[in-house]
Amino acid sequence: MLSTSLLLICYLVGSVAFILGLKMLSSPKTALNGNRLAAVGMLIAIGGTFLFYRNSNGEPLGNLIYIFIAIAIGATIGTLGAKKVKMTAMPQLVSLFNGAGGLCASLISIVEFNRIISSNTINQISTGFLLILIADLLIGSVSFSGSMIAFAKLNGNIKKVTSFTGQQFINFGILILIIFLAVLVVNGSVNTSLYFYAIFSLALVYGVLFVVPIGGADMPVVISLLNSFTGIATAFAGFLYSNQAMMTGGILVGSAGTILTLVMCRAMNRSLSKVLLGSFGAKKTATGESAERDYKEISVSDTAMIMNYAHKVMIVPGYGLAVAQAQHACHDLDKILTDKGIEVSYAIHPVAGRMPGHMNVLLAEANVPYDELEEMEPSNDEFPHTDVVLVLGANDVVNPAAENDPASPIYGMQILEVDKAKQVIVNKRTMHPGYAGISNALFYEDNTSMLFGDAKNVLEQIITEIKSM
Ligand code: TAP
Repeated sequence: MLSTSLLLICYLVGSVAFILGLKMLSSPKTALNGNRLAAVGMLIAIGGTFLFYRNSNGEPLGNLIYIFIAIAIGATIGTLGAKKVKMTAMPQLVSLFNGAGGLCASLISIVEFNRIISSNTINQISTGFLLILIADLLIGSVSFSGSMIAFAKLNGNIKKVTSFTGQQFINFGILILIIFLAVLVVNGSVNTSLYFYAIFSLALVYGVLFVVPIGGADMPVVISLLNSFTGIATAFAGFLYSNQAMMTGGILVGSAGTILTLVMCRAMNRSLSKVLLGSFGAKKTATGESAERDYKEISVSDTAMIMNYAHKVMIVPGYGLAVAQAQHACHDLDKILTDKGIEVSYAIHPVAGRMPGHMNVLLAEANVPYDELEEMEPSNDEFPHTDVVLVLGANDVVNPAAENDPASPIYGMQILEVDKAKQVIVNKRTMHPGYAGISNALFYEDNTSMLFGDAKNVLEQIITEIKSM
């Protein structure tokens, strides 16, 4: 049939656009166009469905009014949400959108199962189809409730990490119960949707219990993992509807999410099981003793003078730079120093900030040239030859406890070894710890000076001072 062939062509074009779009996301230079290309692919897949879809009776898509209303509501919320969100709240937004995807996948399987029950055809449905239906429901629901908890944690709505004794056993018990109910459904020995709703409810509870004990600092890893769950659930939903575009999209999200999760774990030198079972960043650790020690403070004018006479300056951005929105001021300082013949580069830690590539995106927004950004290993080689390292709102990623304190929750994470430079100037507002909740011995080192204040204000003052020299 012509319409079926045209629909398949639309799905093929859409799928190719998704793949090329994803490939283009791997570089900041092409990422924006990659995003647009993938969006066009989605438009083609959706448009093709409206125009060419025919059911087994040859009828076109029905319920168009409802579909358009849902699309209009979703598109409005998505556009406004994405436009209004602050850079610092981006992980929360990703978590929210991801949860919506998971819920969507579970609703699809609920609708399909109800259709099977109401037509009394469960005995004619293959075991494989029922298994996919349950997997879709289970994974989608865990992803939805888990993402909602991740959102609430990142947004500060859930402040205390609440794991309780025996929680692993309860989680295990819920899984066993889900498997038992799933076997009943797959056997075809049920004639009501009640069992299906029971699996749905248990999966929601499992998602909550799965994410609740995980520490705040590990939340981006969890979001990425839940994102891969949503992708897998979407791919299953694509199987249910024999929808190739949905399958490709789901598989791409599932695999990209899994790879990203592993890359982040590797960057923090922690296994995925440690992330999921431990509660890193949840509890204050015993590293508070350094709070008793003395630290040196430095003024803006002294900082400006030291930088003005340096040959080589490295800037280490962290989460505080994003909070202060100081990326433009940072680039201005960089330009002034470069104009004076001083070599300036940026040392980027892979988990600086609160999401993968956070610092790259932030600095790209201020048009900092990509070739000035250095990754962790080359930066660590450069520090011993650097006169001044300016740490801007970074804390955990420069904390030596990761290398020399086995009791520290960040022990084993590779850090930027800024203390190897001749002089380290750390800008932050207070002596408070960073995201992992542990104090930082770097601040008390002989070659470190603390420059207190909001990053943007401080940078603007330094620029004014250097200009007047
Ligand atoms: P953090 O350790 O969170 O430290 C940020 C510092 O910025 C804080 O100590 C804060 O000190 C300072 N700050 C906040 N607002 C500021 C402002 N307006 N001006 C100046 N300073 C300000 O950041 P980091 O070093 O980038 O480390 C990231 C953390 O997130 C790590 O623990 C990492 O493992 C975790 N994490 C990140 C990711 C990804 S993918 N990025 C994933 C998982 C976990 P004051 O309050 O005293 O100013």
